[in-house]
Amino acid sequence: MSQPLSRRQFARVGAAASLAALLPRGVVGNTSSAKRVVVHADQEIGTVRPEFHSHFAEHLGSCVYGGIWVGKSSPIPNVAGFRKTVVDYLKQLGVPVLRWPGGCYADDYHWREGIGPKRPKRVNIHWGNYIEDNSFGTHEFIGFCRLIGAEPYFAANVGTGSPQEMRDWIEYCNFPGGSALADERAANGSPEPFRVKYWGVGNELWGCGGNMTPEQTALEYRHFASFARSFGDTRPFLVGCGPNGNDARWTRGFMDTLAGRMMPDGYSFHFYENGSQPPEHFDAAGMYQQFGIFPRVEQAVMQQRELLDTYDPGRRIGLILDEWGVWDRIPQADERRNGRLWQQSTMRSAVGAALGLNIFNRQADKLYMCNIAQMVNVLQSVLLTDGPESPKCVRTTSYHAFMLFKPHRGKTAVHVEADGNRLPAIPAGRGGRGPQPAVEPHDLSVSASRQGGEVVISLVNPRHDVDMDVDCALHGVSGRSGRAEILHDPDLNACNGFDSPDRITIKPHQVTVEAGRVRLALPALSVATVTVQAG
Ligand code: AHR
Repeated sequence: MSQPLSRRQFARVGAAASLAALLPRGVVGNTSSAKRVVVHADQEIGTVRPEFHSHFAEHLGSCVYGGIWVGKSSPIPNVAGFRKTVVDYLKQLGVPVLRWPGGCYADDYHWREGIGPKRPKRVNIHWGNYIEDNSFGTHEFIGFCRLIGAEPYFAANVGTGSPQEMRDWIEYCNFPGGSALADERAANGSPEPFRVKYWGVGNELWGCGGNMTPEQTALEYRHFASFARSFGDTRPFLVGCGPNGNDARWTRGFMDTLAGRMMPDGYSFHFYENGSQPPEHFDAAGMYQQFGIFPRVEQAVMQQRELLDTYDPGRRIGLILDEWGVWDRIPQADERRNGRLWQQSTMRSAVGAALGLNIFNRQADKLYMCNIAQMVNVLQSVLLTDGPESPKCVRTTSYHAFMLFKPHRGKTAVHVEADGNRLPAIPAGRGGRGPQPAVEPHDLSVSASRQGGEVVISLVNPRHDVDMDVDCALHGVSGRSGRAEILHDPDLNACNGFDSPDRITIKPHQVTVEAGRVRLALPALSVATVTVQAG
């Protein structure tokens, strides 16, 4: 990890001039703190894969039904049954990969019930025993992915399914034609194969997917993978089920059991950043407790990768953070009105999203894909509707945080030194779901990437009471000009509600780029992205 900045590194930079005058109004009263950063634009980490900004949509609450899918005869404006505002906003955001249909739901989902004219009604046993009418199935999911430009990622059913069921689903999706399954797909309106690449072999098999041991999960993986073949020109990329958080015992048990035979293409883990307070009623202590989980996520990425490397020194297995995001204490009234796990996204949530996205940049060489949970109306959504029946739909603060990181996609992450980037001593504990011991400190978090003469720097001030004057030295390039954008609200509980949908949006921000230095003010609770053009 990064080292603290030495005086020498800044000797030629000189004392930072106060930038307090640049701060937006309303933040006076906070402590002001000068922060030094060094971006080593010539020290490459790895590609910021667009897949780090991927999403997850489960049949849960109003994520799919009422969120993504309103049906073709709905009075809510829709494109072939998909909520139009959702389609439009997601197209603007860009969704590299979308994982579906769960989550826990995946291991009780039978794909044949979601194709063709006859769709049996089923009880969703994981999320409140409500009735699923299966009107959103494989064809609808693929249609949605095509509309928003996302690569589909199916989570197949291991818990209550069979290797044959998964194998048939792959053939149905990918075989060009002439087999009964491919012809059935054509008869259902899609003569062209779907060419689905990503296939998860079960979800959370340590928990809702079947309460299995890692050894059992590895044997199930091998059994299912034996029949999950290439059909047509699509070779499936199979994802094995990894741990809850940073559970090394699980990874060893899984990998030791596989013993080098039929290793997966991807290996997933889940790591939620749980909060103990209701989304719109956090206090500073609750917020820092939640932010304190992010260093554990970074540690998990590093340690899980290190462990995988002992089995897979060539790094052919992609490490996938299949589910992540802030998971707060959701008021029952919100769930009753809007669906299970409906959670408002606040300025705190946006800072949380940015802390996570900074980690992915900094650990770009170790990750393959990351999926925020979830896309619409569930947990850390980028979009929220005012209940499943309402035409109102807002872009959340988290949507805007993702937007601010979009310029990093496809660039090469480079090393950054900043105090908040240093991993503190992390107490034992595997992380994942459940209570998390907090980790200090909460300081400026930074990541950067480069492509040719363009350097993109993302900075997060997670403090509610400290305005930061950032003085960033650029090494390896000479900055010529720059522009910055910021997401900020001094109120950690501020959000984009249905009556104030654009309270928190990205705004242009003042930045100075001269003599190899980038300087900007970073008010308390803010996320900024600076794009520097190098000379
Ligand atoms: O995202 C909500 C749930 O969290 C998912 O269904 C499950 O995989 C995880 O425990």
